[in-house]
Amino acid sequence: MGIIVDKENLVFHLQTNETSYIMAVKKGKYLAHVYWGKKMNTPNMDNALLMRWSCFGAMEEQEDATYSMDYVRQEYPTGCGTDYRIPAIEVEYKDGSRVCPLEYTGYKISKGKRPLEGLPAVYVEAEEEGDTLDIILEDKLKGLRVTLAYSVLSKYNAITRSVKVENGGEENVKLEKVMSLSVDFETSDYEMLQLPGAWGRERHIERRVLRSGLQSVESRRGASSHQMNPFIALLGPGANETVGNVYGINLVYSGNFTAGVEVDSLFQSRLYMGINNYDFSWLLEPGEVFTAPEAVMVFSSHGLGEMSRIYHKLYRERLVRGKYRDAVRPILANNWEATYFDFDEEKIVALAGEAKSLGIELFVLDDGWFGKRNGDNCSLGDWFVNREKLPSGIDGLAKKVKEQGISFGLWVEPEMVSPDSELYRKHPDWCIHVKDRNRTQCRSQLTLDLSRRDVCDYIIETIGSILDNAPISYIKWDMNRHMTNLGSALLPAERQKEMPHRYMLGLYHVLEEIVGKHPDVLFESCSGGGGRFDGGMLYYMPQTWTSDDTDGVERLYIQYGTSLVYPISTMGSHVSAVPNHQSGRVTSLKLRGDVAMSGNFGYELDLTKFTPEEKEEVRGQVAQYKELRTFIQSGDMYRLQSPFEGNTAAWMFLSQDKKEIFAAYFRICAKVNPGITRMKLQGLQPDGIYEIKETGQRFRGDELMEIGLVVDMHGDYQSRTWRLHKV
Ligand code: DGJ
Repeated sequence: MGIIVDKENLVFHLQTNETSYIMAVKKGKYLAHVYWGKKMNTPNMDNALLMRWSCFGAMEEQEDATYSMDYVRQEYPTGCGTDYRIPAIEVEYKDGSRVCPLEYTGYKISKGKRPLEGLPAVYVEAEEEGDTLDIILEDKLKGLRVTLAYSVLSKYNAITRSVKVENGGEENVKLEKVMSLSVDFETSDYEMLQLPGAWGRERHIERRVLRSGLQSVESRRGASSHQMNPFIALLGPGANETVGNVYGINLVYSGNFTAGVEVDSLFQSRLYMGINNYDFSWLLEPGEVFTAPEAVMVFSSHGLGEMSRIYHKLYRERLVRGKYRDAVRPILANNWEATYFDFDEEKIVALAGEAKSLGIELFVLDDGWFGKRNGDNCSLGDWFVNREKLPSGIDGLAKKVKEQGISFGLWVEPEMVSPDSELYRKHPDWCIHVKDRNRTQCRSQLTLDLSRRDVCDYIIETIGSILDNAPISYIKWDMNRHMTNLGSALLPAERQKEMPHRYMLGLYHVLEEIVGKHPDVLFESCSGGGGRFDGGMLYYMPQTWTSDDTDGVERLYIQYGTSLVYPISTMGSHVSAVPNHQSGRVTSLKLRGDVAMSGNFGYELDLTKFTPEEKEEVRGQVAQYKELRTFIQSGDMYRLQSPFEGNTAAWMFLSQDKKEIFAAYFRICAKVNPGITRMKLQGLQPDGIYEIKETGQRFRGDELMEIGLVVDMHGDYQSRTWRLHKV
């Protein structure tokens, strides 16, 4: 059982195989946070120092000088009364009042884990995989009931949290903020790690020492975004890749989010995460319930590496769903960088034939196949084939591609509409807009208003019928702009701020319908590359296009950063042409192949332009990946050297049975007389014997981990890989 309750003292102890998370009810009513960290026995609460006196504090009760909410560590702070720190929930009642004291009123334990209605969430396959604790807090005067749900996934070493707010009163309540998670730490002796970026530079790693006041990350763009990912971690003193305490939090949500830490005047830290309260409010009528998205909490006492392996396994096995959860992913070729909009049926069939001859398994036709789309300025929404380009239609083309012995995949961007489209001319009010205001365009497109059921139905119908009428094995679901000038033609004035979250609920509904009806299709999400790389999308689509930047060197940073949270099997990773279209850099086919192979492998260039020697090399890469992909995609990843800390990057993948290893080392710039450089492996059995496949050399695990393999290289942009096998 992952939940231990001391009923007399009202102490709640959540326990995974290696983690403890403890809360206690104080003064019979307020829920305090006691501990999150390494697994332990339930501590003596006298030592927890939850309540204390401090000068100039406002007291909840005049007679108790230790009872100031400004100092106590709280589990779900409301910001009312004597707490001046950042609240987890903010409401406005009908009388305009905002005071909302939430008192503990009870708890419930159940086996397993409930799905979150309409929202993506980690799941269990059997009741024994998890236990759920619901703690109920109430504002008794107004009948507002808040349920904090904690699911303990012992084997996976993770705890999930979500929050339900129910209006049990008789009047409407406006929710202005509902965080999914809040945790108060006793000290501020941490660094905060975040994954910021931009288009083509997603999820770079940044760390900063906590300082007094607020430090936060967020997205206000209507998508989780390239600019910031819904993940942060706190790193304890000395924590790095292999040692130290790390606390990771990740929101399983694809829209606006906020996450951060407030360090208070007593150097305590409040960590929080949830839907961004910017451009958010929710009117809750009597009897209605609002559900906040799920946050996944992972603690590791062995640094970032272990934290990532916990997230990877959990997301691979219990967030991603469907046939492809357990299946190896096909190697694909995509025509985007090969042709952009300039293609016809003959060219696509030729590219597919070439792909097949190289051993590639899936050919994907990207943007430009529909309406009159010969550039990025029209036709989104008109999901009917352009017969001038593709006279046999999608069905005919897919069949021709399949006749070559290779599967067929298709690009779509269903959430968008071009002002120059039949759809827009027919339904000008279907996009996000405010009456009489500028409809700001980005890439000459507007965002469809997925908070509307009619818009969602149109997408379900049109995309569903494309899939029903052609042998399509794969869909790349793109989304190429952020929201601006928010408004929905259907929502009443007092609900306009609900639009961004209603959009996400609409999108999740559309995806559930389409993906659910086409279980054999592999879906890959994309948003101008990795602009929506989050757990929410992974629940519906098991892989994401990691970045539009396919430069072999740039990808070292992007894939390294992405791997902090997201599994290798989810990271679309392709070899593209040189000079690279994004950076202009020229790197070897080998380097590009080795980098792309450290993900979900494919090609994104004109395959017909390869020289015979290059074709041979590509055949070799494809064959090698087929041999390695089971454990690259589903094994444990160990990051060995960070490109953010030097001139090299290195990582390795260890199969589930711990016998097979693929290790890759990359050096960015040449150094003359560099001294001895080595790569030290991790995760091996110290006295196990490991053989290097390429050379037949044998080493003990401890030697490979403590002394490492010598790496000798000449020139810029070098890579080397090793295949090892435990004898
Ligand atoms: C953005 C994607 O990231 C690219 O891979 C490509 O599909 C284009 N959109 C097509 O417009």
